[in-house]
Amino acid sequence: MTEETLSNLLHEERTFPPSEEFAAQANGTRALYDRAQQDRLGFWAEQARELLHWDTDFTQTLDWSGAPFAKWFVGGELNACVNAVDRHVEAGHGDRVALHFVGEPGDTRDITYAELHDEVQRAANALLALGVQAGDRVAVYLPMIPEAAVAMLACARIGAPHSVVFGGFSSDALRARIADAEAKVVITADGGYRRGRPSALKPAVDAAVDGDSTVEHVLVVRRTGQDTHWTERDVWWHVALAEAPAQHEAQAFDAEHPLFILYTSGTTGKPKGIFHTTGGYLTQAAFTSRYVHDIHPETDVYWCTADVGWVTGHTYIVYGPMALGATQVMYEGTPDTPHQGRWWEIVQQHGVTIFYTAPTAIRACMKWGKEIPARFDLSSLRLLGSVGEPINPEAWVWYSEVIGGGRCPIVDTWWQTETGAIMVSPLPGVTATRPGSAQLAVPGISVDVIDEAGESVPDGSGGYLVVTEPWPAMLRGIWGDPERYWETYWSRYEGRYFAGDGAKKDTDGNIWVLGRVDDVMNVSGHRLSTTEIESALVSHPKVAEAAVVGATDAMTGQAVCAFVILRSEAVEEADEPGEGRELVQELRTHVSTQIGPIAKPRQILIVAELPKTRSGKIMRRLLRDVAEQRDVGDVTTLADSSVMDTIKAGMAQS
Ligand code: WT7
Repeated sequence: MTEETLSNLLHEERTFPPSEEFAAQANGTRALYDRAQQDRLGFWAEQARELLHWDTDFTQTLDWSGAPFAKWFVGGELNACVNAVDRHVEAGHGDRVALHFVGEPGDTRDITYAELHDEVQRAANALLALGVQAGDRVAVYLPMIPEAAVAMLACARIGAPHSVVFGGFSSDALRARIADAEAKVVITADGGYRRGRPSALKPAVDAAVDGDSTVEHVLVVRRTGQDTHWTERDVWWHVALAEAPAQHEAQAFDAEHPLFILYTSGTTGKPKGIFHTTGGYLTQAAFTSRYVHDIHPETDVYWCTADVGWVTGHTYIVYGPMALGATQVMYEGTPDTPHQGRWWEIVQQHGVTIFYTAPTAIRACMKWGKEIPARFDLSSLRLLGSVGEPINPEAWVWYSEVIGGGRCPIVDTWWQTETGAIMVSPLPGVTATRPGSAQLAVPGISVDVIDEAGESVPDGSGGYLVVTEPWPAMLRGIWGDPERYWETYWSRYEGRYFAGDGAKKDTDGNIWVLGRVDDVMNVSGHRLSTTEIESALVSHPKVAEAAVVGATDAMTGQAVCAFVILRSEAVEEADEPGEGRELVQELRTHVSTQIGPIAKPRQILIVAELPKTRSGKIMRRLLRDVAEQRDVGDVTTLADSSVMDTIKAGMAQS
């Protein structure tokens, strides 16, 4: 983030107090802050008991004696699936729609809580029949279809932690995640619909489990009906569910029983298996769904546009809203298929009241123009949310006016895969909102902005965002790598969780999250590791060395920009007219097949040298200057300062 954007942000002084009407019906109150302030652990114990069904009550709220490995709600026992499904049916809400599914081609399916209950029981029995036991890992690689939620809940029901892998990831990325978690079963589909066409998923699974693999069975949902290669380990989901017993008696698991693993990017090339457990995670998921998203399950129609492949889809499609018994929309496709008003058409059709999306999507809609949403009736909306990256005030105001009709509070929610649930956000109906700021820690959460030395910075200054007290939905570690867990998050500042984000406190004490401070970038609200993309590039036979930076991009927040040094054999070839361009395409495609289209560089610059310090460290700051077409900053620590001139000259040509 540049100084300029930083100071722009700080000049943002508009505030939007909640309307009396919204405040009168809001779940959130100022008293929540007071209660949490007075007795943080007592507050969480109350929330856990109020929001969830426990088969066995807990005896201790937090055991932090093994810090940084937390145990929340010690001795408590519960089943996550029962909390998300069964208990709503038992309470007489079986006829309530859990999911209004909208397929990209236009097919729709409404699933009530009673129907969901039937499906999760059969799916749980089908998994058991395939030999999955409590503690075994199941990989889920599915499009955005109801079966994704059913698969996750069925795993939770039998105590088998799921590892959902985003359907846009390549077979190599899937293989690495399967191997790290040692998954026994993969749940996938023949394909899904994407931009008007069926897009196959099963071939990627075949490639990922061929040869040496821990995977014994692949359970395949039929979604597109396309031709699908079949092997002995494959089982159709609909056949397995039809053959499975209709009833499954759920067993309660320990509050600290693993619920899921979700891989995310870090500063090294190896993805981190962020690992979450049951009781604390569900408590904070349900708590924030009730108070930040202000869900009223009887009347609201809630829609979170995230994919279940990301943490947002875990917490704010599956576990949080369902723990409350909410009705929600689930949409399979992209916002512009078959037309750029698709989302708004769905809002109108289902009377969506709460809408949660990412700034990158809002910016895309801004680009398409306000005439598009204007064609639809969006008057059902009463609350809007944003997540994934800082939302620029212009996009915030556009969202508020064009989508929210000036009447909806916006919750800008800061959190991470690691935090499990929302940590910093205004409380709608309570907080006067500020465009561009995530504002305040939610009740029961303690965060701070500190300087290099670990001192809390005064209002008006910037530093690093840290969490100062353990929280219920916190990650319990990195799967199989306790050392890396400590090292990544807890080694920098004693007793405090280092989030890797830079932040600023304004003069009113509001928090403005500025972006990553490590070698991780944020593209369209998704974290990508620069090192991971660099190793993908270097794995190409023509590449000798690569440096990747995230450059500011008007649409995606940041974009992947790569600087590549070729192997000598490839250099001459690339000099041939037209060949350089072709090679760049080849490398972009290579990254896409290695990791997934989301990691495809926007730009690849072939260079003869990279700017390095005398100790050989690549100076990314300078590359970022080039990628963002700024004047290159201080080059005095470079081993050879002429390198930057050559690179800039190459940039001007490309
Ligand atoms: C990183 C976490 C949390 C679900 C989606 C991303 C950035 C997230 C905000 C926000 C500014 C934000 C941070 C964070 N981020 N929300 N409201 N304002 N930045 O999950 O992939 O784990 O990424 O996303 O940089 O560290 P994730």
